Amino acid sequence: MSEDRPVVLVTGGASGLGAATVDHFVSLGHPVVVLDRDPTAGASLAERLGDRGAVIIGSVLDDDDVRSAIGAAGALGGLRWVVACAGGGEAGGRVVGRDGTPHDREVFERTLSLNVTGSFNTVRLCASAMAAAEPDVDGERGAVVLVSSAAGYEGQIGQIAYGSAKAALIGMTLIAARDLSSIGVRVNAIAPGVMDTAAWSQAPPDLKAALEATVPFPRRLGAPEEFARLAEHLLTNRYMNGHVARLDGALRFAPK
Ligand SMILES: NC(=O)c1ccc[n+]([C@@H]2O[C@H](COP(=O)([O-])OP(=O)(O)OC[C@H]3O[C@@H](n4cnc5c(N)ncnc54)[C@H](O)[C@@H]3O)[C@@H](O)[C@H]2O)c1
Repeated sequence: MSEDRPVVLVTGGASGLGAATVDHFVSLGHPVVVLDRDPTAGASLAERLGDRGAVIIGSVLDDDDVRSAIGAAGALGGLRWVVACAGGGEAGGRVVGRDGTPHDREVFERTLSLNVTGSFNTVRLCASAMAAAEPDVDGERGAVVLVSSAAGYEGQIGQIAYGSAKAALIGMTLIAARDLSSIGVRVNAIAPGVMDTAAWSQAPPDLKAALEATVPFPRRLGAPEEFARLAEHLLTNRYMNGHVARLDGALRFAPK
């Protein structure tokens, strides 16, 4: 494996922040492995990547799929870095709706499962594989970036499932960093505010403008490339460990 260009696994790398992270690391010459459950976006990404990487179609919740991604990284030189972007939310509503209906329990559990269990599954299997690698001069065997959200700090009304899941990832970061210190794997996280991913192209322009106006500075949504550059920093700066970095232009979400 080239020490200059460690292999990067990006979960959820076929879309949005993950896709921007893939492009960033490919542009820096890193071999990239993507684990994503979207077969269509995954196929076009695989074509774009060619021999610069590999795409595994599967889920972070499936141990065999995660192991396939680790195996693909092994074939490219050995897994060293992970950016765990697979995640997201679905409309869930309030804990108790205006008509007295309690929040859907399955939506809550599904959201926790994807974001929390999915990220944990990625960390535990990847770090276990990294443990077998030769350490570098610092004793480091790998580094992981988890993806939380500003909603993990100040989740809004209607975000109980997503906000709880992203808060769990904030808590997971330091514990995982401590747990994995014995094998030389660092764990940090990014908590983005509102990022300008392709999903915004379908939203009414007024909605986007209103949201931009709430960001203190710069008065715009975050660029996916800015996320990718922060992920790179957290992976390369050897003294960053157990840290959750907000990336939000000083935005703090209001209750609604
Ligand atoms: N976009 C934002 O403004 C924003 C803000 C805060 C946090 N985040 C977080 O950043 C991460 C990426 O967000 P995004 O906006 O790029 O989302 P996105 O929906 O564009 O991309 C998510 C990708 O993850 C994949 N995925 C979903 N479930 C998966 C699974 N079980 N296994 C493997 N892949 C799976 C999807 O197929 C998709 O390609 C998420 O964790 C999200 O919660 C995003």
